[in-house]
Amino acid sequence: MERMNKPDLRTARKRSKSEVLVNEYQLSKDIKDLGLGKKFLIQTHGCQANEADTEIIKGMLLEQKFTETDVLEETDLVLINTCAIREGAENKVFGELGRLKSFKRVNPNLIIAVAGCMPQEEATVERILKTYKHVDIVFGTHNISKFIEYLNYVMKENKSLIEVFSEEGHITEHLPHARDNRFKAWVNIMYGCDEFCTYCIVPYTRGKERSRRKEYIIEEVKDLLERGYKEITLLGQNVNSYGLDFENYNYSFANLLEDLSDLGVPRIRFQTSHPKDFSDELIDVIAIRDSVMPHIHLPVQSGSNKVLKKMNRKYTKEQYLDLVDRIYKAMPNVSITTDIIVGFPTETEEDFQDTLDLVRKSNFEGAFTFVYSKRKGTPAATYETDITEEIAKDRLHRLNELVNEGYKRGNLRFQDHTVKVLVEGISKNNPEVLSGRTENNKLINLKASKETIGQIVEVRIIEAKTWSLEGEAL
Ligand code: SAH
Ligand code: SF4
Ligand code: F3S
Repeated sequence: MERMNKPDLRTARKRSKSEVLVNEYQLSKDIKDLGLGKKFLIQTHGCQANEADTEIIKGMLLEQKFTETDVLEETDLVLINTCAIREGAENKVFGELGRLKSFKRVNPNLIIAVAGCMPQEEATVERILKTYKHVDIVFGTHNISKFIEYLNYVMKENKSLIEVFSEEGHITEHLPHARDNRFKAWVNIMYGCDEFCTYCIVPYTRGKERSRRKEYIIEEVKDLLERGYKEITLLGQNVNSYGLDFENYNYSFANLLEDLSDLGVPRIRFQTSHPKDFSDELIDVIAIRDSVMPHIHLPVQSGSNKVLKKMNRKYTKEQYLDLVDRIYKAMPNVSITTDIIVGFPTETEEDFQDTLDLVRKSNFEGAFTFVYSKRKGTPAATYETDITEEIAKDRLHRLNELVNEGYKRGNLRFQDHTVKVLVEGISKNNPEVLSGRTENNKLINLKASKETIGQIVEVRIIEAKTWSLEGEAL
């Protein structure tokens, strides 16, 4: 191996005031049609940031004339876009890498690439070097735009390569995109995270919080609109601090939502909001603008003030409940969902009861719930705890029962209502019906003609069930 640059979590933690560099995507002129006659397969783990990155990687491969396949036996290149958020997510990837060993034995020309958040961790890179020697390319989140160059090197030199940078990060504009969906698109509005919640690896794997210039975002959204896109989801680890990193800050996330809705985007969503920077100005914009969908994903993590403090979440249970209250007052029809971690070090039964209490009071209509997972290099990894796996699993189970009630309540309230649905395609479970999402982001199966696919239609809800709605187009 000749090219090797390994990650360093300590360096990844540094934050400076230095200006964010904005690059244009460029490829060496001598790299052309690398993929003629070759196939690729990508596996994506983790959050929407990774899904959006996968669409970029796909775009770059298609530009090189690779074609996509979902059959491992026939592919020339397999790329795993990894997630480091919990141990379980990492184990899945290691399992997959183990499985690929035998494919490489059958086809020694198979190129195996590992990308995303896991390569940003020292331990992962060391483990790959030691146990998964059949991996050819390892690169991280800061150098996605260099992937084709790495691939060219590996294909021509027949050597493997590890190139991971632990830096604050820059922004690359005008990257190619191969979007998976014809009607809904992800649009990154910011990268990285400066929150440093004590349990979380993301600030280390994704660099500092940096907002894209609004001109680029607007240009991208205009282009999507011209191509018939109906729904845009704005992405960032903490979208409501959009713009706060600009030198002369005078353009907020609320301003961006207004400008995008002025462009005539039929549906705007955003993900994720940190409760800390959720301003009244922002609530007003979401309430007033019809194109901003009435669904807010607002991760709370815990209902115990002691635990919230140890997590470095920067709000109390009371402040969170007050925010939720203000949101419901401005938008009685809104759906709020959340993320919750149970079993954080030192969480007692009483702390957990505070979480259940907060869930009851917040009227959540859904939640992603997790057992705390220790992440090497984060502050919480050094916290002592006596919570056993059994206790954590029991809490998760009790929490999920409560969360599921909210899910059901959130669907039942639409029984016999007429709602607007973006029809996305034929239902996976029943080829006789179509499926889509309501404005509140509820999954719906509906009877309608296939011509409505890609359209927003009015639908009468006939049956509201726990996990989905059933309806008929009017
Ligand atoms: N930036 C987003 C969340 C990104 S990670 C936000 O702050 O809202 C998605 C979710 O994973 C988090 O909300 C949290 O609930 C969960 N998570 C993060 N780190 C975790 C860990 N170490 N163990 C268990 N769950 C974790
Ligand atoms: Fe992780 Fe907290 Fe940043 Fe979300 S806000 S990505 S939970 S550090
Ligand atoms: Fe996972 Fe990285 Fe997203 S750790 S949750 S893929 S930012």
